[in-house]
Amino acid sequence: MTVGAGAGAAGPAIRLPGGWHLDHRASVDSTNEVAKTLAEAGAAHGTILLADQQTAGRGRHGRGWTSPPGNFYASIVLRPMAPVRDWPQIGFVAGLALIEAVLAVAPDVDCRLKWPNDILVGDRKLAGLLLESTGEALIVGSGLNIASAPDDPDRPAIDLAALDHGDISPAELLEVYATGLEAGLDRWQTAGFAAIRALWLDRARALGQPIRVRLPGGELTGRFADLDATGALILEDRHGGLRTITAGDVFPMEAACS
Ligand code: BTN
Repeated sequence: MTVGAGAGAAGPAIRLPGGWHLDHRASVDSTNEVAKTLAEAGAAHGTILLADQQTAGRGRHGRGWTSPPGNFYASIVLRPMAPVRDWPQIGFVAGLALIEAVLAVAPDVDCRLKWPNDILVGDRKLAGLLLESTGEALIVGSGLNIASAPDDPDRPAIDLAALDHGDISPAELLEVYATGLEAGLDRWQTAGFAAIRALWLDRARALGQPIRVRLPGGELTGRFADLDATGALILEDRHGGLRTITAGDVFPMEAACS
């Protein structure tokens, strides 16, 4: 389906998967918040909220997401035909679609996936995903630094402009991302999470390497051994013991933060 960039927005039409719909706004508080409201009002699977800027962008673990104009901020309403308990796996589908979109428009960018679904260049964060559920729908929010990145020494970040790809437009990125996300969802539903897991691991950062995992109750260290069949991180301690981590912040052994 070809659609215009949306009410009030300039720019060329972009191609989206069949039945998907773009709602492009100049400024919102959070695209996830708006997408949630739209979903609660019955918005269809594939409704995309794209914004030029956010005034209250949200990150994981209750953090904020700095959202000036020039970067990519999108939230997609999904109504997966799968049990709600499996929906977190869609974070891996979306992370994979986003990194593949980056590599399609900027093939020389050396980026990797950080568990569960960040995109890093070296130790610097290029993009992050925030999944939220209304119970009936899943909101997949994605933020990617194109023109600028926050300057926070505790959380090093990078933008595509610093990598000589500042000319990529959010609409261009969205087109490739949405197409890849639909294909990934199809693969997930037909081939199962095992197919996604294998592709994700191919693009993973720190696989097999020492990591630290910050959990609400403290910190664990070990080797990033694997992802399990649900997407949980398998951490191997120095005695060969395995721990299954379902939520937490992962850092390389030498770094304080990322
Ligand atoms: C993280 O890495 O902490 C997740 C960041 C997710 C940011 C995106 S920007 C678009 C969408 N709307 C939000 O408020 N957050 C997500």
